[in-house]
Amino acid sequence: MAQPATQREILCNLFKSTNPLRTDVLETRRLTSPRRPPNNDARHIVLSSPGLSYLPGQSIGVLPEGFDARSGKPQQLRLYSVSSATKGDYGDSKTVSTVVVRHFWDNEETGETSIPGVCSNYLCDCEVGDRFQITGPVGKRFVLPADFHQRDLIFVATGTGIAPYRGMLEDMFAQGYEGKVFLIFGVQYADTILYDDEFQSYQDRPNFRYITALSREGERNPFPDDVPTPREKMYVQVRIWQHREEIGPSLEKPDTLVYQCGLKGMEKGVFQVIDKIGTEMAEPDLSLRMKAEGRMLLEVY
Ligand code: FAD
Ligand code: A2P
Repeated sequence: MAQPATQREILCNLFKSTNPLRTDVLETRRLTSPRRPPNNDARHIVLSSPGLSYLPGQSIGVLPEGFDARSGKPQQLRLYSVSSATKGDYGDSKTVSTVVVRHFWDNEETGETSIPGVCSNYLCDCEVGDRFQITGPVGKRFVLPADFHQRDLIFVATGTGIAPYRGMLEDMFAQGYEGKVFLIFGVQYADTILYDDEFQSYQDRPNFRYITALSREGERNPFPDDVPTPREKMYVQVRIWQHREEIGPSLEKPDTLVYQCGLKGMEKGVFQVIDKIGTEMAEPDLSLRMKAEGRMLLEVY
């Protein structure tokens, strides 16, 4: 019998754009090598959030200062995933953390290139003691269910999509998690893996499996016919196929949950590889069934 995730009561939207929470920057540090260019500059930022828990899997809304050049209106809110555990990085339920990568874009109409994204650069440039306004907590779907303790969990992330899993893993291990959890994490380079030391520190746990997919370190996709990727790049879906003997038994269980967070483009490849593994288990529409049963959770942007 399929077991959809059991919901717990989750607080949402206590602070909105009309009544935001004033927050202080308590800590900010670069997570990636300073040798990498600005578009690989990702920062871990700890903010004050007195008396309010933001759960891993939820997001904070950030209201950057200034006005939007196009509309002339105040800058709109941007969302950033919570990367801390329920009690926050300092364990006192008075902080919330996130991870932000600098965004740059090209304007095809004007030909201008590498235009800094407003909010990501605002956050990456902030310093300890800076104050700004946040909203939230946002979202109640992409969180751990109340009954996570014995379920197998497959966490798939690209880039800053790793954020929710950092906090979830800390919560899970603090609460006696007994299932098996896979963390499959795709980034470009070995020195742009976010929170790598923290995930490495869980490696001696027999129920934690940490697998990285580095797309620009020269390792080729060894299965281009089964799991095609552009220029045979090493992507998370390739790793899932490569480790199907380990991951397959968890996918077969009726209560396993699959989480995907990060690049919008990843979901198609991940669904396809799950269906491919399903086909080997005589269940070619496995991802569809898991979706219908509420066991496939997505947060892509
Ligand atoms: P913006 O300035 O908003 O630019 C974004 C895009 O808008 C540009 O690429 C361009 O296409 C367009 N644009 C902007 N200005 C113009 C213009 N003048 N003319 C034409 N087009 C224009 N990001 C993280 O780093 N970490 C996270 O944990 C994270 N979590 C997220 C969670 C959710 C649920 C969602 C929805 C998003 C998340 N994001 C996260 C992405 C984040 O919300 C922002 O979208 C991202 O940081 C870019 O914002 P920005 O203000 O820097 O860029
Ligand atoms: P690449 O950028 O080499 O194509 P980002 O740094 O943009 O957040 O991306 C995180 C990782 O996800 C990078 O290794 C990136 O590879 C990879 N990636 C890009 N597109 C996809 C996709 N469609 N499916 C899976 N991984 C992807």
